[in-house]
Amino acid sequence: MATDVHGPLSPATTQAVHVEGLTRAFDGRAVIDDVHLDLAPGEFVALLGRSGCGKSTLLRVLAGLDRDIDGTVLVPRRRAVAFQAPRLMPWKRVWRNVLLGLPGRPERTLAEQALEEVGLGHRVNAWPKTLSGGEAQRVSLARALVREPDLLLLDEPFGALDALTRINAQRLVGELWQRRGCAVLLVTHDVEEAVLLADRVLVMDGGRIAHEQRVELDRPRELTDPRFAAIRADLLARLGVTPAAEAA
Ligand SMILES: Nc1ncnc2c1ncn2[C@@H]1O[C@H](COP(=O)(O)OP(=O)(O)OP(=O)(O)O)[C@@H](O)[C@H]1O
Ligand SMILES: [Mg+2]
Repeated sequence: MATDVHGPLSPATTQAVHVEGLTRAFDGRAVIDDVHLDLAPGEFVALLGRSGCGKSTLLRVLAGLDRDIDGTVLVPRRRAVAFQAPRLMPWKRVWRNVLLGLPGRPERTLAEQALEEVGLGHRVNAWPKTLSGGEAQRVSLARALVREPDLLLLDEPFGALDALTRINAQRLVGELWQRRGCAVLLVTHDVEEAVLLADRVLVMDGGRIAHEQRVELDRPRELTDPRFAAIRADLLARLGVTPAAEAA
C-alpha cells in the first residue's frame, strides 16, 4: 500500500481538510473507496450513514490514528478528537485528564479554563467515577478544547446520553464552535442533530460520500421550521428511513 501524505496543511492551502482519492481497505475490502472531501476553515460538517459504512474509519484517518491508507489527506496540525465514550483515566483527577497527552508541563489553569468553558469549573478536582455521563462527556470536550484545535473531530459524542442531557450537550457544542471558530466534523446517527448544528450534512454509503446537503438556515435553528422538517425528511429518505418506519 502506498504511503500516506498525512500531515500539516501547506500555507498555500485554503481548506481545513483536503482529502483526495482516499481509500482504506480491511482484508482486501475497501471500506472507504476513493473519497474526496474538503472542509473550509470554521465549517461545521455532519457525517451520517448506516452502521458500518465507514464513518469512524474516516474520522480516525483524519485524526491521524490510522495511516494505512491510499490517497491524499491534508489536515491541520492542531486537531482534537472526542469519541462516544469519554475515555477518562479513572486514577487521574478531572483536570489532569483534561491535560493528558499535552506536550511539556501544561499549567493547571489551562484545564480550569477549558472546564469553565464546558460548565464544569466546579468539578476540576473530582475523580472521573463521581461524574455523570453528561459531565464525563463535557470533560472529554474540555480535553479537546485545550488543544486549541483548528479541526475538531467528534465521533457520536452524544450517543450515550439521555435525551435532555443530549440537547444540552448539542447546544454546548454549537456555542463552542461559534466561539472557537474551528472546523468540525461530527459523526452522528441523529439526523435532527446533524441539521441542527451543521453547515453541511454528508451521507456516506458504499465507501463514498453518496449525498451532500447544505443547511442554509439561520441559527439557532427551530425544529418546527418547515424548511428544517423538509431537509430532515429528505436526509431520512436518503438513509432509507421511510416515514412509516420512523414512526414505528
Ligand atoms: N481494524 C479493523 N479491522 C477490520 N475491519 C474493520 C476495522 N475497523 C473497521 N472495520 C470494518 O470497517 C467497516 C466500517 O467500520 P466503521 O467503524 O468505520 O463504521 P461506522 O460507520 O463508524 O459504523 P457505526 O455507525 O456502527 O459506528 C465495518 O465493516 C468494520 O467491521
Ligand atoms: Mg462508528
